[in-house]
Amino acid sequence: MARIGLIFLIVASVALVIAAQAKPETKGPFPYTRKSIAKGKEYYLTNCVECHDQDGRGLNRRDFSGTPPADLTDPDAWTHGTSEQAIFKNTKEGTTDDMPPYKDKMTDEEIWHTVNFVRSLWPENKRPKLVEEKSVEGK
Ligand code: HEC
Repeated sequence: MARIGLIFLIVASVALVIAAQAKPETKGPFPYTRKSIAKGKEYYLTNCVECHDQDGRGLNRRDFSGTPPADLTDPDAWTHGTSEQAIFKNTKEGTTDDMPPYKDKMTDEEIWHTVNFVRSLWPENKRPKLVEEKSVEGK
């Protein structure tokens, strides 16, 4: 009987470890560094300026038949979330309000760097704290 108890205990702890690892990511894989923001800027200039413009404001510069592009410098006015995950998802999958999906045009890595650039367009008091490159070698 004791042995069955022990086996149960081992199985339960293995399950617990697996469950802990499957926990959803709460942070993007690329820290908010100058390097990541600079990469994101290149992807942004290639993929996003057409609607959001170079300064991210994107308003009144073009005629849009659908929803006008969000002002990326004003996260308070956004309607689909401002967390890293939300910006990533809305860029990858698009939104129901005319923001096109990028899953076939950009890799996940490119989107994550773009997420960092987009957040660098926010007012200073809303921006994430810059992570020093030295502490995240290679990212
Ligand atoms: C064809 C035009 C178009 C392009 C290109 C485009 N967007 Fe958008 N985007 C929109 C429109 C329209 C909205 C506003 C509707 C909405 O919020 O869903 C929007 C909204 C957003 C929002 C805010 C969503 C919210 O929560 O309100 C983010 C963030 C965003 N875009 C990021 C990007 C990024 C990053 C790119 C480039 C990879 C990009 N967009 C390219 C049209 C575009």
